[in-house]
Amino acid sequence: MSKSDQIALITGATSGIGAAAARRLVAEGYKVVATGRREDRLKSFAAECGGACLPVTLDVTDAAAVQKAVADLPDDFKAITVLINNAGVSLGNAPVHQAKLADWMSTVGTNIHGMLYCTHAILPGMVERDFGDIINIGSIGATHPYPRNAVYGGTKAFMRQFTMSLRADLLGANIRAACIEPGIIETEFAYIRMGEAARAFYDRPNLLKAEDIAELIHVQLSLPRRVNIDAMEVMPLVQSYGYPTLAKVK
Ligand SMILES: NC(=O)c1ccc[n+]([C@@H]2O[C@H](COP(=O)([O-])OP(=O)(O)OC[C@H]3O[C@@H](n4cnc5c(N)ncnc54)[C@H](OP(=O)(O)O)[C@@H]3O)[C@@H](O)[C@H]2O)c1
Repeated sequence: MSKSDQIALITGATSGIGAAAARRLVAEGYKVVATGRREDRLKSFAAECGGACLPVTLDVTDAAAVQKAVADLPDDFKAITVLINNAGVSLGNAPVHQAKLADWMSTVGTNIHGMLYCTHAILPGMVERDFGDIINIGSIGATHPYPRNAVYGGTKAFMRQFTMSLRADLLGANIRAACIEPGIIETEFAYIRMGEAARAFYDRPNLLKAEDIAELIHVQLSLPRRVNIDAMEVMPLVQSYGYPTLAKVK
C-alpha cells in the first residue's frame, strides 16, 4: 500500500515524539489523525497540513472516549493503517516508599490502559483489512532499572511484552508490531515530571531529539513488509549502562 493511501493515528501528538512523528509522516504523504488533550496545539498543526491531518482531542485514559473517537472518524480517516501508541507520562520523582499513589495510577492509566484502549479499538479493523502497523513507544526503563522509576519502568516492560504478544497472536497476519525503546530525549517529558528542575537535567549536549525517534518510526514503516523490528533500544551516544549499585558499607 502506498504511503498516500495510509492513515496513521498517533497518540500524544501535541509535543515531543508524537508531534515530530506527525510532522514526519505528513511530510512523507501519510494522512494523520493527531490526538492528545491540548486541542489548540492539534488544531494549529492541522492548519499547516492542508487536509492531511485530522486533529482529535482525546484523553487516552478514558476508554469510552477512545472507542467513540475511533468509531466517529470520518470515512476518509477511518481505515487506520498505522497506530502509534506514544502518549506517556512518568509522574512523581520519589522512591517507591514515598511515592504518591495517584502518580502511580496516572502513569499506569496513560502508559498501559491508554495503549490497551487504543489497540483494542483499532486492531480489529487492521485484522479485517489484513494490513497494519502498531508502533509502541516504550523506554530503556523496560529493561534497565534505575532509581525512582519503578512504576514507569514497569509500564514500559508491560508495553514491550504486550508488543511481543501481539506478534505471537498476529502470526500469519499482515500486521507488524514494534516497540521502540528510547533513552533520554529532550522533550517536555521531564518538565511534566519534575518541573523546572528538568532544565538542568536536559542541560547537556547531544541528547536524542524527538525527530530521531520519528526517523526510526519512518524506518520501521518503510522497510519491506516482510521485515519486522520487534524491539529497538536506542540511546544517545552520551548515555550508557550503569554498574549494579552496592549499598555503602558502614
Ligand atoms: N523523553 C524521554 O526521555 C523519553 C524516553 C523514553 C521513552 N519516552 C516515551 O516517549 C513517549 C512520548 O514522550 P515525549 O518524550 O515525547 O514526552 P512529551 O513531550 O511530554 O509528550 C507526551 C505526550 O503524551 C501526551 N499525553 C500525556 N497524557 C495523555 C493522556 N492522558 N491522553 C492523551 N495524551 C496524553 C501529551 O499530550 P497532552 O498533554 O496534550 O495530552 C504529549 O503529547 C512517552 O510514552 C514516553 O514514555 C520518552
